[in-house]
Amino acid sequence: MKLLGLRATGAVAVGGLTVVAAQDCYANTTYGDFFVDVKNFYSQSELETYTENCTILHGDIGFGKNFTGSAIVHNLINITGVVTVGSNLSSIEFPDLLSLGSVDVDSSNLRSISLPQLETAASFNVENVESLSFSSPNVYQADYIWITGQIASLDLPKLDTVTKILEICSDSDCTTPPATAFDINLPSLRNASQVKIAGNLSSLSLPVLATTGNNSHYAGVYISNNGHALNMSFPELSLVTDSLKLKGAMASINLPSLHNTSAEITIDSSTTLDVDLSSLVNASTILLKGKISSANFTSLKSFEEVEIESTVHINCEKSLPYNITAGELTSCGTSAKSKGSNIPNRSINIGVGVGVGVGGAIGLLIIVVWMYRRSLKRKKRASQAVATLDVYGLQEGVGAGAGVERRETAPPPYSRY
Ligand SMILES: *[C@@H]1O[C@H](CO)[C@@H](O)[C@H](O)[C@H]1NC(C)=O
Ligand SMILES: *[C@@H]1O[C@H](CO)[C@@H](O)[C@H](O)[C@H]1NC(C)=O
Ligand SMILES: *[C@@H]1O[C@H](CO)[C@@H](O)[C@H](O)[C@H]1NC(C)=O
Ligand SMILES: *[C@@H]1O[C@H](CO)[C@@H](O)[C@H](O)[C@H]1NC(C)=O
Ligand SMILES: *[C@@H]1O[C@H](CO)[C@@H](O)[C@H](O)[C@H]1NC(C)=O
Ligand SMILES: *[C@@H]1O[C@H](CO)[C@@H](O)[C@H](O)[C@H]1NC(C)=O
Ligand SMILES: *[C@@H]1O[C@H](CO)[C@@H](O)[C@H](O)[C@H]1NC(C)=O
Ligand SMILES: *[C@@H]1O[C@H](CO)[C@@H](O)[C@H](O)[C@H]1NC(C)=O
Ligand SMILES: *[C@@H]1O[C@H](CO)[C@@H](O)[C@H](O)[C@H]1NC(C)=O
Ligand SMILES: *[C@@H]1O[C@H](CO)[C@@H](O)[C@H](O)[C@H]1NC(C)=O
Ligand SMILES: *[C@@H]1O[C@H](CO)[C@@H](O)[C@H](O)[C@H]1NC(C)=O
Ligand SMILES: *[C@@H]1O[C@H](CO)[C@@H](O)[C@H](O)[C@H]1NC(C)=O
Repeated sequence: MKLLGLRATGAVAVGGLTVVAAQDCYANTTYGDFFVDVKNFYSQSELETYTENCTILHGDIGFGKNFTGSAIVHNLINITGVVTVGSNLSSIEFPDLLSLGSVDVDSSNLRSISLPQLETAASFNVENVESLSFSSPNVYQADYIWITGQIASLDLPKLDTVTKILEICSDSDCTTPPATAFDINLPSLRNASQVKIAGNLSSLSLPVLATTGNNSHYAGVYISNNGHALNMSFPELSLVTDSLKLKGAMASINLPSLHNTSAEITIDSSTTLDVDLSSLVNASTILLKGKISSANFTSLKSFEEVEIESTVHINCEKSLPYNITAGELTSCGTSAKSKGSNIPNRSINIGVGVGVGVGGAIGLLIIVVWMYRRSLKRKKRASQAVATLDVYGLQEGVGAGAGVERRETAPPPYSRY
């Protein structure tokens, strides 16, 4: 504790020389010949002493395994780097923080994260949580939000823009495993490049989401629900690029503002569904599968392909778009047996090259996006492996290799390195 106290005083003195009002502190730790800009805390009292004269912390912070219970990070209004909470903390609170590089959590012990004043963050990367309440009531912009695991509550009432990925899933791969239900209510979210939500959803509210897909690497909307059937309602959604995929239990589809889109649309329903795409005018490819009982394409004027593969009874005649010209592909069929026959009640194919189909193309796309996302996460992990050594009690093992690795690792896109 004495040694740590001295270190803190040193950092404050440096800050005091450069800035008077804002008090800058520099997180750093030395391992033998290596310097890392990380400061680890082992108790609340140590944390308080360190932050007493700090408002801006340059660098990363972490929390030792023997820091249990609650951590309250007073005073800091800006943390430029990464806060890693891979520890035995049960709650963490940043009462004064306005901006943050990133918060990284991989913990089943943490029950609460509270960032009451925070306005902007580069990323929230919160994984493998169990019964976590996440509250950031003033954040309006972030680059990445990844929150995966068992979510107890999510409080992001002012979130307006996510420049890259918003992913909220009950597992890290968004495969929608059985899990406890949670609500998704993002009342202010207008703009995100990619929105991915999967899990046992007790409600879904995205009332002002208008644009997605404003980034070439990540784009589109993916919602998968294995809870009770929900209204998949996106009243303002008007711009979607790349892909729009709705999967699982749904009571209705409501996309009244979506008129023109280049996105590949996939609707895969596990509950009987009348698909209302009556506002669509110009589309690319559309695949409807699962328990599709009807489809409405009243306004559709141009498209490349519409494919319906239903597992329940459907009137294909009435469900396919009306005005089909040469060059557009349509098909409709059902695997539901009607009156002792297992022949699909109708199948229409116009044009050539139905071969690959919408399904294949979308499958490929999803794999590519998934791989990109994985490699991004791996890079991030590698860069943090060194930054968090002390947190995980590995400082004895630090050698030349680790020091070099930190410099060689490609920086994650939102980090300051
Ligand atoms: C913080 O600043 C006050 C006033 O300058 C000083 O008395 C105190 O020792 C400082 N605290 C630390 C931990 O440096
Ligand atoms: C911490 O950073 C400050 C400012 O860059 C520097 O003066 C100090 O020597 C560093 N301390 C350690 C232990 O690296
Ligand atoms: C916590 O662990 C760190 C390093 O492992 C050690 O330096 C510190 O004394 C421990 N603190 C307590 C309160 O046990
Ligand atoms: C912290 O968690 C580890 C497991 O990750 C556990 O072995 C250890 O006993 C815990 N430490 C304390 C002080 O609770
Ligand atoms: C936080 O501090 C960094 C580094 O000084 C600065 O670039 C950034 O603008 C600050 N953020 C806010 C919101 O003041
Ligand atoms: C959405 O956000 C992106 C990235 O911040 C921005 O470039 C774009 O202009 C925004 N679009 C709208 C319609 O606000
Ligand atoms: C969804 O959550 C509800 C309530 O928590 C639960 O009863 C139900 O079994 C869950 N469903 C799945 C598929 O996990
Ligand atoms: C992002 O959206 C804005 C406004 O809708 C548009 O002008 C811009 O071209 C888009 N950028 C990309 C990369 O799609
Ligand atoms: C879905 O919307 C309809 C009509 O707006 C409403 O009657 C129904 O209760 C809603 N269902 C759910 C699960 O919200
Ligand atoms: C959709 O495209 C048509 C041209 O096919 C155009 O007339 C119409 O204004 C577009 N609608 C929107 C909302 O962009
Ligand atoms: C299709 O949707 C439009 C607009 O909501 C509606 O007027 C029309 O009756 C629907 N058609 C069928 C066959 O349900
Ligand atoms: C379908 O074609 C008919 C006859 O060409 C035309 O009157 C009608 O407006 C078209 N409907 C749509 C939705 O394009």
